[in-house]
Amino acid sequence: MKKLIIGGRDAFFSWGYRHLLKPLFFLMDPEKIHDRMVRTGRLLGGFAPGRWLIKAMFYSSSPMLSQKVAGLRFDSPVGLAAGFDKNAELSAVLPFLGFGFAEYGSVTGEPCEGNAKPRLWRLKRSQGLLVYYGLKNDGAEVLAKRMGREFPRQRRWKLARHFVNGVSVAKTNCAETVDCTKGVMDYAKAYREVRPYADYITVNISCPNAFGGQPFTDRKSLDLLLKELDQLYQEGRPVFIKMSPDLQVSEIDDILEVCSKHRVDGYVCSNLTKKRENHKIVEKDFPEVGGISGKVVQHLADDLIRHVYLKTGGKKAIIGVGGIFSAEDAYEKIKNGASLVQLITGMIFQGPSLISEINLGLERLLKKDGYKHVSEAVGVNLK
Ligand SMILES: Cc1cc2nc3c(=O)[nH]c(=O)nc-3n(C[C@H](O)[C@H](O)[C@H](O)COP(=O)(O)O)c2cc1C
Repeated sequence: MKKLIIGGRDAFFSWGYRHLLKPLFFLMDPEKIHDRMVRTGRLLGGFAPGRWLIKAMFYSSSPMLSQKVAGLRFDSPVGLAAGFDKNAELSAVLPFLGFGFAEYGSVTGEPCEGNAKPRLWRLKRSQGLLVYYGLKNDGAEVLAKRMGREFPRQRRWKLARHFVNGVSVAKTNCAETVDCTKGVMDYAKAYREVRPYADYITVNISCPNAFGGQPFTDRKSLDLLLKELDQLYQEGRPVFIKMSPDLQVSEIDDILEVCSKHRVDGYVCSNLTKKRENHKIVEKDFPEVGGISGKVVQHLADDLIRHVYLKTGGKKAIIGVGGIFSAEDAYEKIKNGASLVQLITGMIFQGPSLISEINLGLERLLKKDGYKHVSEAVGVNLK
């Protein structure tokens, strides 16, 4: 009965978002509306009635979905992907939306203004976003202070006690960090600052919009970077590597081989795609810069998940991300080998009810296939 009521609630708010709010939001500048949503979320999370309201409108959970991955307990396998909450301002509200975890950032060693505006566009017909932020963020020191203040507060609420706060680190988007040693030091600075607060750390080696490209996909530079980060590794705080969906198979295999010699616990598959020769892109006329999210990247992320799962023999944790717009999309990533999933674009196109819809939908799909727990479905497409 409870599930029926929650399902009805989700359908109601999802309809309201798609038919009333989204048409209004989509008339406005995408970056402005993104910033406004972050401000609204921060405001609502700041006082108890705001959090209760969010919980009543959007929260759902299921014991079938609670699991341990890379030594951490996740109440839901659905997380917010890096890039939505760049400065860790929403930690008070995200657990009440039904997320099991969030990845804040990407945060860099130094504060960064990002690229010149405009730098975010909607590809409505392709159901994607074109992103050219260029790692805009407040910098690791400011973020660390905020996390030190906010995360202990979050832990006081029963519902948020097991919420996993991940942080994505990258190198500052500027000419100086193009030099490999300086780039490594910049990553290390961000890592060191956030380490006391982050439950896990993702090393983003796949930002499509950074000065000097993605140098750390090269064997030698990646090895140097991971050697430095190994020294900072803290037991119980797993490290993930976030990969690009545009890599050649040989490049992926090189990355996996280098990572296997270092303290890497898992992979985030995948980041935005830069490639324009993609049959999912419907629009003809849009800026040449930037990486694309949503439905455009979905099949590329799925291919990468499958490859990484097979190559690592299912022994490393995989976070699947790219084009999740429904429980079915999330389930496909799980069956391809992901233990956890993340999203941004689906939430922007479908509304915040999507998280609860995925939580409930996953439970339904698992039961339909005869599974008692989400962990049983991980990688079944490849077995
Ligand atoms: C507005 C926006 C900003 C992003 N910024 C980052 C970032 O700073 N670091 C990162 O690793 N990924 C970033 N991403 C990529 C997402 O984390 C994710 O990998 C990608 O969007 C695919 O997921 P989706 O289709 O659910 O959006 C960003 C994506 C979007 C849409």
